[in-house]
Amino acid sequence: MGVVRQLRQIDADAAGVDIAFRADVHAGLAQQQKAFPARWFYDATGSALFEDITALPEYYPTRSETDLLARHAAAMASAIGAGRALIELGSGSSTKTPLLLDAIAPAAYVPVDISGDFLRDSALALARRFPGLPIYPVEADFTQRVELPREIVDQPKLGFFPGSTIGNMVARTAIDLLRNWRCALGEGSLLLIGIDRIKDVATLELAYDDPAGVTAAFNLNLLERINRELGGDIAVENFAHRAVWDEVHARIEMHLVAACDMDFTVDGRAYHMAAGETIHSENSHKYGPRDANLLLRASGWTPIATWDDADPAFALILAEATPFRSAP
Ligand code: AVJ
Repeated sequence: MGVVRQLRQIDADAAGVDIAFRADVHAGLAQQQKAFPARWFYDATGSALFEDITALPEYYPTRSETDLLARHAAAMASAIGAGRALIELGSGSSTKTPLLLDAIAPAAYVPVDISGDFLRDSALALARRFPGLPIYPVEADFTQRVELPREIVDQPKLGFFPGSTIGNMVARTAIDLLRNWRCALGEGSLLLIGIDRIKDVATLELAYDDPAGVTAAFNLNLLERINRELGGDIAVENFAHRAVWDEVHARIEMHLVAACDMDFTVDGRAYHMAAGETIHSENSHKYGPRDANLLLRASGWTPIATWDDADPAFALILAEATPFRSAP
């Protein structure tokens, strides 16, 4: 079977630049607190830098989650059952996926990722490892409407949303996303979602500000990408990486901090930043057990099993799109 074909669901301009990227950058720079959605980190360079992050000793989420998958694969498989189409949101390198594919014997695999070239390479590598499995990669922004490959529409489905990527969204957006995917996957579908737990501040901050500077490079690449794709002239060397825990929102915030007053242009449009001013480039929300269950229930997903005995703490939660019934 192998990779059947890669669907592309991105609107690009004549130069191949994502139209939504351009719009988000200008909108984000015009705000009082400058900010960009985290998805724009993932051009080919950013996706590769994120892979480097997952190998850092300080960045525990990937290790914890992989460990949970490896240790509890059999229990997960018996809760999930065989023969579902596995749809992975933000599949990236798909490195954890084989653990799940081996255990649950799915009918098909649909990796969804915003980084098209990266997706193609990962899907090809996976096809070599699982020659009998039909793979339908979809290049798309999974926070937008995604059209599923028609080959899988009638199959029972399992959404796989690992890595605590849901943590990138504020509660309102996270619930919108989970509700939309409940609708797209349909009643009776399952969702296996990775959620990072609240833990001591030192562990959290070190995971997002590693001494080797890989996370800093990942953060700064966003400015390089703006220069590359949007003809920007941002002096990237005048920005610093900052990652701090925000207790009120239970999240790590990443910022790009201006070291001095500066003027720059993007697409010929002028912007100014004062020394010390920041661009808020990412949120990474963390959830306690009740928080996580509430988030899922608020989105129409009923938690049915949790595996969270990893160290540092991380959770994989299996939830079901149960029918709505009227209740207070
Ligand atoms: C891929 C969104 C799960 O928030 O932990 C890693 C991205 N940012 N280091 C996260 C990230 C900085 C990561 N996610």
